[in-house]
Amino acid sequence: MQALDLIKKKRDGRSLTAEEIDFLVEGYVAEEIPDYQMAAFLMAVFFNSMNSRETVQLTSSMADSGEKLDLSGLEGFKADKHSTGGVGDSTSLVVVPLAAACGLKMAKLSGRALGHTGGTIDKLESIPGFRVAMDGEDFLRFVKRTGAAIMEHTRELAPADRKIYHLRDRTATVESLPLITSSIMSKKLACGPDGVVLDVKVGSGAFIKERERAGELARGCLQIGRASGLRVSAVLTDMDHPLGRAVGNALEVREAIEVLKGETRGELAHLAVVLVSELLLAAGKAGRKSEAMELARARLKDGSAAAKFEEMVENQGGECGLVDNPDRLPRAECRAEVLAEKGGYIGAVSPLPVAQVANALGAGRSEKGEGIDHSAGLELLRKRGERVEKGEAIARLHFNDEKRATDELEDILKGAFSIQEEKPSPKKLIFERLRSWS
Ligand code: URA
Repeated sequence: MQALDLIKKKRDGRSLTAEEIDFLVEGYVAEEIPDYQMAAFLMAVFFNSMNSRETVQLTSSMADSGEKLDLSGLEGFKADKHSTGGVGDSTSLVVVPLAAACGLKMAKLSGRALGHTGGTIDKLESIPGFRVAMDGEDFLRFVKRTGAAIMEHTRELAPADRKIYHLRDRTATVESLPLITSSIMSKKLACGPDGVVLDVKVGSGAFIKERERAGELARGCLQIGRASGLRVSAVLTDMDHPLGRAVGNALEVREAIEVLKGETRGELAHLAVVLVSELLLAAGKAGRKSEAMELARARLKDGSAAAKFEEMVENQGGECGLVDNPDRLPRAECRAEVLAEKGGYIGAVSPLPVAQVANALGAGRSEKGEGIDHSAGLELLRKRGERVEKGEAIARLHFNDEKRATDELEDILKGAFSIQEEKPSPKKLIFERLRSWS
């Protein structure tokens, strides 16, 4: 078999066999197939796509390209969660301990921030002492003991995805649906859960802007679930607006702790409950959606989710007593308020400029490997639909380096808010829920 023939085959719009896909993935990971050939193949996939059989095969070849987590020693339903990435989105910090409080086993591998979206690992690292790297044995021991642990993705798990994603990022082929589907699902398959819930963000602050395309991605992931015996739910959610009020690592941990302590009124809490309810349905812990939602909400209200978070933080070396003393999280030295230039209702808060400002204050990175200021970021003091008077604060900036908080940044943030006379009609947060099983 020759890589060149397989590139030609895909270039000419034909489909590849399972052996051919395996050959490409294995050859690329083993460095027998060079970047330029894989890049040409990816571009051929970008233009000619893959059918569902090919996408299933590509996903499984990528999942099999390295080590896998062995969760067989854990009792109960092993669950996982993935988000396609949003702004002000700390749902994993709530979902993982909440699902554990509901009796599921959450062995979650997460990544770091890159581009405009945050990363769970950076958020957790804002907790003094918290360890995101550990060996597989410790990780599984913590999941067994507490039902929840989160660690950083290892290089050994689905290495084909890491290599291919890196190349896609440099060859304008990230946006191909079969490549996105296989990238997301290969990492999930390599972690060996029984069920996974996907939060597929849609909107101007999301990787996917159109609802239709998000639905297509979700359906592709469900197909992989059906082919591999994994229960997959996908929830299509709004990302035309930041999810929470906090954007920035320690600030988001603080907000997640509020939700875990029973503050269930906001969108962050609602989404976390919806995502956990999907896992509970997949696990058979509830028969109906309303029952699953009720169970999840009850575990937030009765303090058991907060207790699981506390236990998870302590297992992983983090500051003890954080739930009762969130002031132990790092705080920026400087704060500045951004004021409304007119009165009215907030019609929209655009997520991309919000993320741009938080990152410029130090909360994010523009290059892989760059440092992060864990205490930097911003709070949205007003969200969509809320009233503001002229001169009232709409946002608060948190920063350590005064040179970063420029007038230009303040203008960008002001520009993210649209203020109107009429109260806007409520917008849906959850567009659709899809499941791979019935
Ligand atoms: N998230 C992933 O993990 N992979 C992609 O290709 C896109 C989003």
